[in-house]
Amino acid sequence: MRKPLVIGNWKMNGSRRSIAQVLDGIEPLGRQSGVEVVVCPPFVYLAEVAPRTSAVGLRIGAQHVSEYESGAYTGEVGAAMLADIGCDYVLIGHSERRALFGDGKRVAGQLAATLRAGLKPVLCLGEDAEQRQLGETRSVLLSQLAAAGLVGGRETEQLAGLVVAYEPVWAIGTGNAASPDDAQQAHRWIREALGALGGEVPILYGGSVMAENVAELMVQPDVDGVLVGGASLRVGEFTAICALAAKA
Ligand code: PGA
Repeated sequence: MRKPLVIGNWKMNGSRRSIAQVLDGIEPLGRQSGVEVVVCPPFVYLAEVAPRTSAVGLRIGAQHVSEYESGAYTGEVGAAMLADIGCDYVLIGHSERRALFGDGKRVAGQLAATLRAGLKPVLCLGEDAEQRQLGETRSVLLSQLAAAGLVGGRETEQLAGLVVAYEPVWAIGTGNAASPDDAQQAHRWIREALGALGGEVPILYGGSVMAENVAELMVQPDVDGVLVGGASLRVGEFTAICALAAKA
């Protein structure tokens, strides 16, 4: 039985002041048993947030990472830097990064760099509305896993800490989450595609997760946690989501 994992993706939101307020509000979640809670602030706030989260038992993640180690890559941030300031997790291949910044081609390098630095990669994948309409969901998931180098022949030890997040693009920020049955089906396809690794890898659902729908998603056998965007900055809502995930 994997411990449920709840990750809050704050995206490009917040200020020092508003983030301090959110942290005050969610601090008790570090003591919530039965769930691991992670927050992903924008890069510039990571070093400030990390000591506060680690003091209370919360985990911290970055929203992006470079595939390069260090050097002349203006504007990029390397995995070793993230490890250096106390990060635990890194989101890779979020659909906004794929759609707006062309990151689909970078995921294999980002995954490797993250693992080399001893961090836990959270590989995000999912189909868009048109692909879903055309019945291509499974093949899209398989090709995204293949692009990350995750289909066939990888040893479990090489991927220690890997997390996968199924995030259908049409569900992100729309208030229209996948049905529990559809989420379960996609998670099963992903777990099967991961082969021998599959049993070890937590698979999270993301896309309009709220207190209202988290329990029905979490009871699905292949849903091991949730990746929460909009609701993660609302203290009451996020606290409720974590409590419900812990119970599921
Ligand atoms: P949402 O975002 O919860 O606001 O739909 C999820 C995500 O982008 O990770």
